[in-house]
Amino acid sequence: MGKLTGKTALITGGAGIIGVATAKRLAADGAKIALVDRDRSQLEEAESQIGAKGILSIVADVTKSADCARYASDALAALGPIDIFFNNAGIEGVVSPVTEYPEDVFDDVYAVNVRGVFLGLKYVIPVMREGGSIIITSSIAGIRGGPNMSAYVMSKFAVVGLMRTAAQECAPRRIRVNTIHPGFVESRMMRRLEMQRIGNRTHEEIQQEFLSRIPLGRYVQPEEIANGVAYLASDDARMVTGSQHLVDGGTMLV
Ligand SMILES: NC(=O)c1ccc[n+]([C@@H]2O[C@H](COP(=O)([O-])OP(=O)(O)OC[C@H]3O[C@@H](n4cnc5c(N)ncnc54)[C@H](O)[C@@H]3O)[C@@H](O)[C@H]2O)c1
Repeated sequence: MGKLTGKTALITGGAGIIGVATAKRLAADGAKIALVDRDRSQLEEAESQIGAKGILSIVADVTKSADCARYASDALAALGPIDIFFNNAGIEGVVSPVTEYPEDVFDDVYAVNVRGVFLGLKYVIPVMREGGSIIITSSIAGIRGGPNMSAYVMSKFAVVGLMRTAAQECAPRRIRVNTIHPGFVESRMMRRLEMQRIGNRTHEEIQQEFLSRIPLGRYVQPEEIANGVAYLASDDARMVTGSQHLVDGGTMLV
């Protein structure tokens, strides 16, 4: 029997690289899985990568209130009350200084990374079982900030405030709420950020620059973020709420 046998897990951004790795891990630990993402074909691809039985996939745009209400009620109807909510969908925006940052991109980043996370809490908390666990994906950007990613940095700080609010509001029902803070993950998002910073350098040079900021000497694998989520979701973390869980290979040290 796995640590999460009998539990249900709802994952937004479920077709993304961290969503898929986490769904695989939570399913391996015994949880029943619901994935939320914006595109049916991406979700079908994710289901086949995860390879577990009985995955519920829901197409929804997390920026839209009606979609969030629907994914929460569909998950409840199909799986029963939610034990684990991985509130994870996010976009990176563009690499640009504040003075040139496009306002429409700012609004898009906020819509997904802040409003989407807020709406997720708003509609999923009522369908959660007592004693459940909510994990919100922030970033090292949500602790230290950094140049040229103002909207992303602000959004990832914002969800820490939301986590601290929800952790207090949910404590009477013993629902724990924490943030996970990935460092530089081997992923599409990192490839895109590398290419946006490249200027007249080679791809290898830009990767070396990122690697020089990781004391453990390599990018984080998506499965290593999944390990952190699985810990926060499990009873091993039963007294952990309101915390910020770093998985960054030591990047915050330097
Ligand atoms: N990859 C990294 O290096 C890294 C580092 C720190 C934090 N993060 C955070 O981890 C989370 C997952 O990122 P990832 O690397 O898996 O990226 P990803 O792009 O592979 O996955 C994100 C998923 O969110 C979905 N999504 C975006 N907007 C949506 C919307 N409006 N409605 C529904 N779904 C939507 C996308 O379709 C995608 O499948 C994000 O919050 C990201 O900011 C990633």
